[in-house]
Amino acid sequence: MKNPLLFSIVLVVAVGLLLAAAPTSPPALPQYTTDNQLLRPENYREWVFLSAGLGMSYSPKIGGHEMFTNVFVPQWAYAEFQKSGKWPNKSIFVVEERDSQTKGSINKVGHFQTDFMGMGVEVKDKSHFPEEWAYFSFGEDTRSAKAHPKEGCFACHEAHAAVEHSFVQFYPTLKPVAKKFGTYNAERENVDGAK
Ligand code: HEC
Repeated sequence: MKNPLLFSIVLVVAVGLLLAAAPTSPPALPQYTTDNQLLRPENYREWVFLSAGLGMSYSPKIGGHEMFTNVFVPQWAYAEFQKSGKWPNKSIFVVEERDSQTKGSINKVGHFQTDFMGMGVEVKDKSHFPEEWAYFSFGEDTRSAKAHPKEGCFACHEAHAAVEHSFVQFYPTLKPVAKKFGTYNAERENVDGAK
């Protein structure tokens, strides 16, 4: 092309078209404040749903009745897990707690989910945490959260989860994948499977 101005215009238009064709939302990665607090993950309801628990209690709750827990992981991390049975660096997990109700509308027995009660977030991020895995809690209005000390969340996940720090023994679609790749610790299915 002889005319440099024309060349630049063509280049700018071409790059613009490429950018416009790219997916609009970036992959869901952990985001931090300058003091290493995790920013609240947004749009996790558009991630892959792993499973729900009802009244699965692993942290002491004051009184109250059984709550649902819904577990989500971003599409990109889920896709990597399908290929390797392992979680890639920068994986982020949400366990959302929802209240349960029995009587409502036409429902008479069983339970359905209602209000948001809080969420736990886990990240695998070695560039931010020497231990790789870190844990956070968010309420309705929490915008950012500091990592919990190791004794609580980390210790239980380290001692009892079947694949790295994730409780794949409770996620029926991931369990066969991890077994296939040999990353599944079957002993963790035992009640005291702290091996
Ligand atoms: C006593 C054991 C225990 C403790 C302590 C614990 N968890 Fe968990 N966690 C579990 C179990 C069991 C599951 C499986 C699924 C469920 O509860 O629905 C789980 C699931 C999760 C998940 C979903 C992804 C995964 O790893 O499977 C996140 C996120 C999570 N917990 C965050 C936290 C946070 C944050 C804390 C601390 C505030 C915490 N957990 C403390 C046992 C524990």
